[in-house]
Amino acid sequence: MVEVVVADITTLEVDAIVNAANERMLGGGGVDGAIHAAAGPELREACAEVPEVEPGVRCPTGEARITSGFALPARYVIHTVGPVWRGGDQGEPRLLASCYRSSLELAAAHGVASVAFPAISTGVFGYPAEPAARIAVRELRAAPDGVERVNVCCFDQASADVYHRVLDE
Ligand code: APR
Repeated sequence: MVEVVVADITTLEVDAIVNAANERMLGGGGVDGAIHAAAGPELREACAEVPEVEPGVRCPTGEARITSGFALPARYVIHTVGPVWRGGDQGEPRLLASCYRSSLELAAAHGVASVAFPAISTGVFGYPAEPAARIAVRELRAAPDGVERVNVCCFDQASADVYHRVLDE
């Protein structure tokens, strides 16, 4: 059951929230900035300990990494890196789907029963909201057993309306 909420994701009382991070995984703006601000400085320290898979890359686009949530209500933060929108024929749909799948796999592996996702890539990374929502809903509906509550956390009503339209199709 995929539910849509309009909220600041850092306030949600769920087992894990998903962060729309970048490959360096040391923070940024948007939801990444909000999560780091709310979690406190220990989150950046924990991210810095995530091994680089190549210089400057801790989490390649489409993959996910998990850390504690520290001062957040959520126990875990699952960091995933969405694709930058480059017109749609550079593998963006496949990479965005992989963000949701990788995050759900990590959630299941850590006994996470409730998880909230932001609208990955639809802010700074410029992914159009409706195609992104369609990919998100398809992947979230296929959440592994054990991950019972899956929320999409929209930052504004307009974004939530897109998800409601896609969910009602
Ligand atoms: N709670 C929930 N959603 C939020 C919040 C918040 N506190 N802040 C922003 N959002 C929403 C945005 O409105 C957008 O719909 O999260 C969605 C994703 O937008 P971004 O945060 O810009 O993420 P993204 O487009 O994936 O770009 C990632 O931005 O902040 C940097 O370090 C980050 O380089 C990375 C890039």
